[in-house]
Amino acid sequence: MKIIVDNIPIECQEGELLIDVLINNSVEIPHFCYQQDLGADGNCRMCMVEIKGQKRPQIACNTFVCEGLEASTKGKNINEVQRSILELELLNHPVDCPICDQAGECKLQDYYMNYGLYESHLSTPKTKKGKHIELGSGVMLDQERCVLCMRCVRFTTSITKTGELGVIGRGDNARVAVAPNHALNNPYALNVVELCPVGALTSKDFRFKQRVWFLDSSKSICHGCSRGCNIFIDYNETKYSDEKVYRFRSRRNKEINLSFLCDFGRLSYKELNEKVISTPLPMEILKDLFKSEKKVAMVSPSMSLQQLQSVQTFCKNHEIELFSLPYIDESFGDDWLKTNDKSANFAGVKELNINSSKEEFENSLENANLIINFDHTLLKEREIKDKKVIHFTTTNIKIPSEAVFAIANFAHESGTLINCDGLRQEFYASKYKSEAPRLTELLEKRP
Ligand code: SF4
Ligand code: SF4
Ligand code: FES
Repeated sequence: MKIIVDNIPIECQEGELLIDVLINNSVEIPHFCYQQDLGADGNCRMCMVEIKGQKRPQIACNTFVCEGLEASTKGKNINEVQRSILELELLNHPVDCPICDQAGECKLQDYYMNYGLYESHLSTPKTKKGKHIELGSGVMLDQERCVLCMRCVRFTTSITKTGELGVIGRGDNARVAVAPNHALNNPYALNVVELCPVGALTSKDFRFKQRVWFLDSSKSICHGCSRGCNIFIDYNETKYSDEKVYRFRSRRNKEINLSFLCDFGRLSYKELNEKVISTPLPMEILKDLFKSEKKVAMVSPSMSLQQLQSVQTFCKNHEIELFSLPYIDESFGDDWLKTNDKSANFAGVKELNINSSKEEFENSLENANLIINFDHTLLKEREIKDKKVIHFTTTNIKIPSEAVFAIANFAHESGTLINCDGLRQEFYASKYKSEAPRLTELLEKRP
């Protein structure tokens, strides 16, 4: 059906919330408490719109669309309403944007610039609240910056159902807190930092490391397990340093991770910053090695379909037996996002019919003279005596080996992964070039 927003017809489905229609059609609508995967709470009143036929402005997060609905998000009247609500939100706020880590991605700052721009009317001192409070799981709280949108509280009550956070006190003394001697402690805790629309919740891991406007982002997929949660990789390269990944942020995917990530996956970005040292062999010795009678190769089940395919072709051409074993960790999975299979693309290994029998691999290993490891964790940690081992790797190898070839990690790769539910997803390389070559280029162009 059709509705009219700011005189422009928009198509939508019956029963949709007006705020969803606006967000999905990139119509700017200020909001704090509404979040597409937490739902409506109606507490901030920022999402006011005028609806034709209604006397007073209504909140878009509690308005369901109906055929012919005419709404207006702009105009003198609605601007005045938004400005007044914003003033109320900011009454006791410290407005310390220059030292706030959220600056640059703060809704309060953006709306103030868009709708506010007023002098404070407060003649009494602002209410003081707690600052630098450690909530647990690496989450820091500044109660003075909080706009009490309840997103963090709702996340712990209705999504993780762990209920660590609540609001205590009343009126301008109301503040988010954990109960005394308790902590925010669940494997998804860092999501509250991303959900917080202002600088009240920040991550100890990221805060003060980088101003967000210096960061570039690429659309990628978490390689922490077979769920394949969608992420943004935020990275930066400066005049004085190489490219560095600073964080993973969730990228909304309704079919997989909604707007959330687990903390393990979120913090797994750190591996991407490892500088890998190559110890290449002279070409002649390498050629001799390849003449070895029995060669066996292992490829990481977290490689993209494209990488797996080029390893498979390489192995076929050089008569190398190829295996790929999944990274199973029975203690990792849960009944939500995390899966016991910590490989990003074991479904891809299956699709390409790469041998994944542990028994057959061990037998072949026994008889092999040369082992080639394409970034598989198992062989990076296991010392194999009396055999030559060559690694193509994205992390440093700490055990003795014949040669180590550094290859670009997934931040520098584009490719396809198949997740645990059989969903095929693309991810994209960052715009900075990696020092190490991409595996596919290495195998295809310099066989
Ligand atoms: S801490 Fe952030 S997410 Fe939680 S209620 Fe305050 S503003 Fe909202
Ligand atoms: S559930 Fe798996 S894919 Fe998702 S963020 Fe965690 S480790 Fe990454
Ligand atoms: S977003 Fe609608 S009331 Fe907060």
